[in-house]
Amino acid sequence: SSLKIGLIPADGIGKEVIPAARQAIVALGSDIPKPEFINLHAGWETFTRTGVALPHETVEILKSECDCALFGSVSSPSRKVTGYSSPIVQLRKELDLYANVRPVVSVAPNAGEQPAVDLIVVRENTECLYVKQEQQIDGPNGKEARATRLITERASRRIGQMAFELAAARSRKHLTIIHKSNVLSITDGLFRETVRGVPALTGKYSDVTIAEQLVDSAVYRLFREPEVFDVMVAPNLYGDIISDAAAALVGSLGLIPSINAGDDFVMGEPVHGSAPDIEGKGIANPIASIRSAALMLRHLGYTKGADRLDVAVDQVIREGRYLTPDLKGTSTTQEVLDAVLGKL
Ligand code: NAI
Ligand code: MG
Repeated sequence: SSLKIGLIPADGIGKEVIPAARQAIVALGSDIPKPEFINLHAGWETFTRTGVALPHETVEILKSECDCALFGSVSSPSRKVTGYSSPIVQLRKELDLYANVRPVVSVAPNAGEQPAVDLIVVRENTECLYVKQEQQIDGPNGKEARATRLITERASRRIGQMAFELAAARSRKHLTIIHKSNVLSITDGLFRETVRGVPALTGKYSDVTIAEQLVDSAVYRLFREPEVFDVMVAPNLYGDIISDAAAALVGSLGLIPSINAGDDFVMGEPVHGSAPDIEGKGIANPIASIRSAALMLRHLGYTKGADRLDVAVDQVIREGRYLTPDLKGTSTTQEVLDAVLGKL
């Protein structure tokens, strides 16, 4: 049988890096079931063309025909646009992809310059401030804007369980819970308590050590001594910020992959956005997308294919001959892809 992969390049450099990931998957040959790709629309451009950012058809095909998917990046505007809502945020909800898993690993650290980073950020993907319940009223102090922050026991428990599961599979088996419950004692308190309760609830993970850190000092520590972190679990917004920050430690956002995972579906997605500053120049780093494909395959149990992609990418980075400008190289997306395909 085949492996049906939905491809949603969406906007900007997504259109450049997702095709690269596709080629890398094809190059795996018989290490995975024969891939079949289904091209799907979503994003800002789709919205400007059709009036919907996430067509119903895209969701339906993902649900009914695809085994997994790869998503590129959307160019969401920073201003409020009537009728527009970020398709990636919506897709995570529609497909109940409750965990965003982002490994950040430094390859070939230069001694004394780059610290050795090897951590996974496990970000809750469905709630927190990203439920997007915002409102504005005219108050006594002028305009007044409010947002609801939702934390539930169910979502905290399942993200906690995913984080413990990932930590238990690693050599250091160390989990750090990120929160700010000194200030937000009810919402972050619930998150913290619930995650802490996972071992007792499941009777598992007794070999995982648990630490916790307030989100602000966690960022500080991430820059000072990233080696203290192994697996970090966080509510949605903190997880978003921490993983971008961690990306800076290893050189470029263009290296960092993620998966959006639920119980029934997995969608790979580079952590970066649509990068309008380099869009169309053919110099976007395809590595985050290739690694996202690897993570997706690994999640589905295709370990051999996933390992091959990771090893090929690591070799290309270590050799340093073919690197895009974000890594201070002069190569194009195509040249980096060709180098990876050469290793495969
Ligand atoms: P960004 O991640 O697009 O870019 C930040 C910086 O990193 C830019 O200088 C960019 O050139 C560079 N960069 C990112 N990916 C790269 C790659 N693969 N190769 C080389 N350089 C790379 O973040 P920014 O500029 O804040 O957002 C731009 C747009 O992307 C916005 O419309 C935002 O809404 C959207 N966005 C979408 C996301 C998604 O689809 N999940 C996530 C983050 C932002
Ligand atoms: Mg982000």
